[in-house]
Parts: sequence; structure tokens; C-alpha cells
Amino acid sequence: MHIGFMIPHWDHIDPIKSSTLTVIKECFERGHTVSILYTNNLTVRNNIVHGFIKTIAKMEKIPENITSFYKKVQLEKNFIALHAFDCLMLRKDPPINPIVLNFLDAIKDEVIIVNDVDGIRKANNKLYTTTFHDPDNTYLPVTHVSGSKKFINKTINESPSEKMILKPLDGSGGRGVIVLEKNAKENINSLLDFYIDDQGDNYVILQEFIQGADEGDVRVLMLDGKFIGAYNRKPAEGEVRANMQTGGSAHKYTLTESQKKICKKVGSKLVSDGLFFVGLDMIGDKILEVNVLNPGGITNINKLNKLKLQKKVVDFIEDKVHEKIEKRVELEYLLKRLNKLRE
Ligand SMILES: Nc1ncnc2c1ncn2[C@@H]1O[C@H](COP(=O)(O)OP(=O)(O)O)[C@@H](O)[C@H]1O
Ligand SMILES: [Mg+2]
Repeated sequence: MHIGFMIPHWDHIDPIKSSTLTVIKECFERGHTVSILYTNNLTVRNNIVHGFIKTIAKMEKIPENITSFYKKVQLEKNFIALHAFDCLMLRKDPPINPIVLNFLDAIKDEVIIVNDVDGIRKANNKLYTTTFHDPDNTYLPVTHVSGSKKFINKTINESPSEKMILKPLDGSGGRGVIVLEKNAKENINSLLDFYIDDQGDNYVILQEFIQGADEGDVRVLMLDGKFIGAYNRKPAEGEVRANMQTGGSAHKYTLTESQKKICKKVGSKLVSDGLFFVGLDMIGDKILEVNVLNPGGITNINKLNKLKLQKKVVDFIEDKVHEKIEKRVELEYLLKRLNKLRE
């Protein structure tokens, strides 16, 4: 199989921390051709979507150690029509430029894309959780999204809680997530001026401060609608954000029965939206956000539990590709029979 990985940059990979590299290595060890490409490598040549890709050259012996593997990789330049990929993994931080998705629209029927282009389009920012329809907050925190400073101000004033969270609609890695305290009211207007421009075409999230957040959040990795692992991220001293990028620390975690139930419930919806490999961020029984582009966690969960989750991910990719090939063969056979009958 030829498996592509759309990543930020090969040289920026941290081999110890990178979940993507574990999956790349697993694919390579299984004998698949593995290529990487960047979003600016997408090209249309005479109406066909191509890419300037870099393919990992064959190795006589693949080092077991991930850092040695990373150092040994030689990348060979190629220019190919992208429907030649069997699978393309999108491993770039959100939000993705919608034009990238338009490039991929042309190949989505032929190539297994994880996650599905239309799914990513739906879940390209934090508004996606509104499609879960949970007005009673059984598993979503009280969340408001607005481009109106007036609405946000009014909602803060009416809220019984002293503390709320303000964050951008399409942030990641904890960027722009801040705590609003009612007793620091003099800052609120200035903050809203910063988050919402005067054109009124950007939005901000105002969310209840979830109880238990001091203990950090839980990253749950979901594959094909089922959870395959989780770990707890505790925020650094004096920090509210538990993201690893903001100094969070990784701890072993076992999901509670009610968290498992929520994952199961959400899992079927994710799959029906074509979102096969997903990272849920949870605090207690509340889902904070659904990460569909480049969710991390494999390396931390592996380390804390002596697992190799990348194997499950690659098993899934292989199954999906085989399923697609079988369907194609079946369709070709049926078409042949139909043509024969017509003759
Ligand atoms: N409503 C909230 N209550 C308490 N903590 C929160 C809340 N929203 C975000 N956080 C903290 O900030 C972190 C980042 O928020 P998140 O919504 O996951 O955005 P990002 O996409 O930047 O990761 C969370 O992991 C959590 O530690
Ligand atoms: Mg998050």
C-alpha cells in the first residue's frame, strides 16, 4: 500500500513525542510505501490533483529505536497524482485551510482519507459539538458562541458563576484560552475587543468553567467509534490549560464507567460523520472539544500503559483499504456481468 501523511514539516518532528512518527514507522515496518507531503505541495496539473511528495527510501535494516529510525530516514522526492495513494492521513494542526479540503475533494472517492474530508469540513472548529444536540448538558458544558460583544457581556452578567472560560472558536494547543473572573470586570470589554473584530465576522466561545478542571483534562483517543486509550493531562502550576504545549504533564488514567458510556454514545456519531481517528478532551463527564486533525496522545498513552496503539491505527487503515478494494472488485464484476447481459 502507498500511505501518505500530510504533516507540518518533517524537520520539526520530535521523534520522542510525535504520535504521527509512531504510525509512520509502523506502516513502514509492515512494508508499505510511506510518503510525506505538506499542504503547499498540493498541485493541480492539467485538472488532476498531484503532490510534490517525499517518499521514505527503503532501508536494509529498520532501527527499532524511534529516534534512530527518524535519523536514518532518507526522503526521495517524487511528483505523483494523489489518487495513487491508498490512504492519506491528515496530521496537521487545526484549523485547516478549506482550500486544502477542496484539493482533496478530487481524490476522496478513491483514497481512504483519515479523517474523511467532509467530516473535517464539519468539525474544522469547535462549533462541531453543537451538532451533538445536548441542550440539557448531559455531556457538553454550557457553551455559548457569538460574534456579539453585547450578547457575551449580557451572558457573563447573567451567569451565576464567578468564573467562566473564553476561547477562540478555532484555536488549538490551548492558545487564547483564558479564565474570566466576574470580579475582574474591567478587563472584559478590552478582551472582547481583542477577540471579536468590528466587522463582526469572527466568533468567540464563552463556556462554563467545568468543576474538577484543576485536576486537568482527559485526552481520549477514539478509533472507528471506540476508545482505544486515554491519559490525564494536569496543568502546570498556576496554569489553567492542561495542554502538553502549555506545560501540562501526562498521567495514567482509567476512564470511569460514565465516561465510557459517553464515548460510546459519541462514537457512533463520529463514525457516521467520517471521523475515524479522533481525540476527545474531557473534564469529568463533559466533552470540551473534539480534535479531528492531528490528535496527539499515542506516545503518552503508550508510555504510561506499555501499549503500541499505532498498531491498532495501522490495522484500521489496512482494513479500510482492503474493504475499499473488495468493494471496487465487486462493482467491476457486477458491471462486467451487466454488460454481458446487455450484449
Ligand atoms: N470550560 C472549561 N473549563 C475548565 N477548563 C477548560 C475549559 N475549556 C478549556 N479548559 C482548559 O483549557 C485547555 C484547552 O481547551 P480546549 O477547549 O481543549 O482548546 P484547545 O483546542 O486549545 O486544546 C483544556 O484542555 C482545559 O485544560
Ligand atoms: Mg484541547
